Amino acid sequence: MISEIDNKIKEASQFKPKDLKELEKFRIEFLGKKGHVTYFFSQFKKIKENEKKEYGKAINDLKKITLQKLEEFKPKTNPENKLKNKAEDLTRPVSALELGVRHPISIIRDKIIDIFYKIGFNISEGPEIEDDWHNFTALNLPEYHPARDMQDTFFINKDPDLLLRTHTSSVQIRHMENNNPPIRTISPGRVYRNEDISARSHCFFHQIEGLYIDKKVSFADLKQTLIYFTKELFGKSKIRLRPSYFPFTEPSAEVDIYWGLNSETDHRITKGTGWLEIMGCGMVDPNVLENCKIDSKEFSGFAFGMGIERITMLLYQIEDIRILYENDSRFLSQFKKSI
Ligand code: DAH
Repeated sequence: MISEIDNKIKEASQFKPKDLKELEKFRIEFLGKKGHVTYFFSQFKKIKENEKKEYGKAINDLKKITLQKLEEFKPKTNPENKLKNKAEDLTRPVSALELGVRHPISIIRDKIIDIFYKIGFNISEGPEIEDDWHNFTALNLPEYHPARDMQDTFFINKDPDLLLRTHTSSVQIRHMENNNPPIRTISPGRVYRNEDISARSHCFFHQIEGLYIDKKVSFADLKQTLIYFTKELFGKSKIRLRPSYFPFTEPSAEVDIYWGLNSETDHRITKGTGWLEIMGCGMVDPNVLENCKIDSKEFSGFAFGMGIERITMLLYQIEDIRILYENDSRFLSQFKKSI
């Protein structure tokens, strides 16, 4: 019996398949259910006690050599074959990963944040799904106030009242409710308006809100802060404050910067005036302070708010707001240098 096994060992060790079919035949013949290895094992009980050890070792040798042969000729797992395949050449240089770029809105938002960070403002954030109190009532816009119509609102629910915030001024309220003066904070974030989508407007966009509350804060502080800001961001510090109306500030103003009239584009974007409106601002209305439990006799402050898209479009001379949301890589890749 042992010599039979030895013959099979010899046969297996000389085996060299011509193709995969032959390899499979070999596997079935030696290791299959009715193959040689199974057969020799089944005969184990008939072997004399003193020969069992040698017999067992011979079967194991046969099994081992068969498995080795299968491994050797298995097509893909053979490392020699692998390296012959060009596509898997491990020494080949890797193709460079293309790095993504920052979105222009993020670039400008972070520039604005940096400018205010330098003069001690921190960053605050609030939810995009707001309630009536934070978006309107606490900002001196009670129910049925006609000024609510200034911002077309996406309402979500009546009771409890929920809406998509129409401005980041809601974060002012949340911040004042949770912090004591002195307060110096800016709040960047996305806002929503029920407006038609066109080259100049969209149903959502981004704003940055600023708030400064302390003892004896005056309109002069507001103006000086704005001059510092416009100089840092636009390199231009000539500004004018036009009287305006916002329910949450009194007095209120619209901020224009003098852009100049040096080129045809300057003429076009400033409608021939040289001036460009960039944000709204004012002294925080005492009612708003009181709504947030801040004593309006002791404290005063200023606030401002601007659209990040508007500023981004100005700085990069982008004519259509929609392109900012299309994620067209041909457009976005142009901002590589600004990272
Ligand atoms: N919330 C105003 C808007 O969305 C912008 C604004 C104006 C914010 C004046 C202010 C401010 O804080 O003082 O149109």
